[in-house]
Amino acid sequence: MLRPPAVKAKGLTRHFESRKGFFFSELTRTEALRGVDLEVAPGEIFGLLGPNGAGKTTLTKILSTLLLPSGGRAEVLGLDVTREALRLRPRIGLVLGGERGLYNRVSARENLRYFADLYGVPPEKRAARIDEVLTWVGLADAGDRRVEEFSRGMKQKLHLARGILHEPEMLFLDEPTIGLDPKSARETRKLVRSLVANGVTILLTTHYMFEAEELCQRIAVLSRGKIVARDTIAGLRRLVGGDRTIEVEDYGFEDLEVARLRRLPGVSRLFTEEFGPRLRCTLRVGTGELTEAQIRAALPGHAEMTVRERRTALEDIYLDLVEEEAK
Ligand SMILES: Nc1ncnc2c1ncn2[C@@H]1O[C@H](COP(=O)(O)OP(=O)(O)OP(=O)(O)O)[C@@H](O)[C@H]1O
Ligand SMILES: [Mg+2]
Repeated sequence: MLRPPAVKAKGLTRHFESRKGFFFSELTRTEALRGVDLEVAPGEIFGLLGPNGAGKTTLTKILSTLLLPSGGRAEVLGLDVTREALRLRPRIGLVLGGERGLYNRVSARENLRYFADLYGVPPEKRAARIDEVLTWVGLADAGDRRVEEFSRGMKQKLHLARGILHEPEMLFLDEPTIGLDPKSARETRKLVRSLVANGVTILLTTHYMFEAEELCQRIAVLSRGKIVARDTIAGLRRLVGGDRTIEVEDYGFEDLEVARLRRLPGVSRLFTEEFGPRLRCTLRVGTGELTEAQIRAALPGHAEMTVRERRTALEDIYLDLVEEEAK
């Protein structure tokens, strides 16, 4: 049988109203999502990127039935997140970053026991499943310790264990490696990959570009409640128009010279940054399009300038897209 898309969202909106000011007399309205369309294929690991306040957590919460949309509609695993939430919940898992949502005074195992009951894990399978997930996240030896004794990384792993306890088909991970040291973050990414290898679909939010680049097949960039780009990493690179990033840096660039660089053939974008008296021009350039010699020839007065080239990283693309949206 053909599996439906894991996520299918159309025109999703969500606003928040809050009161502030003198006697809470001012009503402010935040448009957290302003018409989001999204489709995630079954078995895919899809990345959601975007600056603070872009609406990533709001979107994640709506898709995992924690929050109702103000408008639009969304289906997850073929079920409507609003009307069929009760049927959907047992089939999905949600892991929010940070330390909330665990019971500190009791052991990891007791936490998982509570959530296993909540998620409807059959009692006869419960103990074995808890051992299995504790081992899987590397907490087998810490299962009987109270969570208040846990480090942040251990808590994060317990969150992950909790999220997969009931063997969900789809997992929402909102910044799963936030605050983790490099080793724990790497272990977490490895766990994420092994989930995907087992057929779990994942929607992953992260602020770490390399993480998205390493894990995700496709990525959507959310900015101010709207998706501003959605593609594979290679596709995003093409969209921004430049596999190559060339940085040209020197003292005393004139506006005219910067304009000359911008007009060179193959330059799709140019940004400038000042470092004290030095100016750095960052150029996005397509494959095989512009050489260093051509750049030097265009700026004959700058024999001492440095010209560095690197492959355009996802982080560059992301900044281009978000910057463009903010204009
Ligand atoms: N419960 C709420 N009440 C009022 N405003 C809210 C609420 N939750 C979110 N918002 C607002 O909605 C917008 C989107 O917030 P959201 O948490 O979804 O962003 P985010 O992309 O997850 O950001 P971050 O990267 O910081 O986690 C923000 O302007 C935020 O202040
Ligand atoms: Mg968030």
